[in-house]
Amino acid sequence: MTKKNIAIYPGTFDPVTNGHLDIIERASVLFDVVIVGVAFNINKSPLFTKEERRDLIKKVTKKYKNVRVEMFNGLLVDFAKKQKANVIIRGLRAISDFEYEFQMSLTNRKLAPGITTMFLMPNEKYTYLNSSLVRELSKLKGDISSFVPPVVEKTIKLKLNQKL
Ligand code: COA
Repeated sequence: MTKKNIAIYPGTFDPVTNGHLDIIERASVLFDVVIVGVAFNINKSPLFTKEERRDLIKKVTKKYKNVRVEMFNGLLVDFAKKQKANVIIRGLRAISDFEYEFQMSLTNRKLAPGITTMFLMPNEKYTYLNSSLVRELSKLKGDISSFVPPVVEKTIKLKLNQKL
């Protein structure tokens, strides 16, 4: 039996954006299984609970049959080992991402030499996009329809008690 290539795509996803989806779609073509790992990030206080973030990603990735969504606490490499993953996927949007990603990837390699980090580039139209921008725009009632799928836009509006 040939070994399956299982990739973890980790992040806080507060909320998932079209830029994340672009990476998930690319990864789903390359790997046998893609597990989106919704993290508890000690440096962030998210707008959405971990369960809400997981459920939103499940909804917007339904059409990819080899994509699963899981939540995790603790170290990414421990989660990856538990899932029997051999790859960690990270998106590289701009040069400014590089230093942080380089540090994280080398640290993860030191902790788990059998797991390789691979970088995918999203479509250039998402290079400036991040979840904070989406949250800030929403709070100020800006139009986020080109940054997130419709179900995410609706869920943010409900969360912020705004008119649909
Ligand atoms: N499109 C749009 N936005 C994107 C994107 C893409 N393709 N890729 C990243 N972003 C955004 C994210 O939404 C996030 O936005 P925000 O900071 O405004 O909320 C921002 O860019 C940074 O993303 P990322 O670097 O993926 O941070 P994260 O918080 O989403 O994920 C973890 C970081 C969870 C992967 C990392 O902290 C981790 O591994 N934690 C587990 C603990 C651990 O193992 N620590 C040791 C690591 S060496």
